[in-house]
Amino acid sequence: MKKIAVFASGNGSNFEAVTAAARSGLIPDCEVALCVCDRPGAYVTGRAARLGVPVLEFSPRDFGSKRDFEKMIADELDRLGIALVCLAGYMRIVGEELLGRYGGRIINIHPALLPAFPGAHAIRDAFEYGVKVYGVTIHRVDSTVDGGAIIAQEAVPYEGRDIDELTALIHSAEHRLYPAAIARLLAE
Ligand code: GRF
Repeated sequence: MKKIAVFASGNGSNFEAVTAAARSGLIPDCEVALCVCDRPGAYVTGRAARLGVPVLEFSPRDFGSKRDFEKMIADELDRLGIALVCLAGYMRIVGEELLGRYGGRIINIHPALLPAFPGAHAIRDAFEYGVKVYGVTIHRVDSTVDGGAIIAQEAVPYEGRDIDELTALIHSAEHRLYPAAIARLLAE
């Protein structure tokens, strides 16, 4: 059984989709062994409690530096024997400590077709630009913002004018694509 950790800061719908996919065998031989959350009390922590997934919650301001809290996280990943770290709405740039110890084994999901629309407001930015094909990207994490090598992408065509409807379409593509990409990476 390969263990993975999902990092999230807020809602956690991708955390829940990945956990469900692991439990149903859609991601074979995989256990979501840890949810890491940098915002204590975020909605994702309630999902994790309901699903019985251990949570590592912390406040960055309780630590002297990013290196300090990343050391604490990486020590826990080591202790559990985590094979892959999946960022899913983790609203922080990964620093040197985690990249040094887990580099190449950290991936992220982004709600746009990178390299178009990086950053924290990708769906809104693409909508305001007026694109006709949106999408989702899974990529490796390096020291750049949304810039690591692309692993998988799925296009989401949409020509409507309802950003809530668009957001729902993009999230449902995410909930399919992330488990599929994780399954492929774990099988390599
Ligand atoms: C997703 O759109 C993901 O692509 C982005 O942040 C969002 C997280 O949503 N990185 P959720 O917390 O998984 O619901």
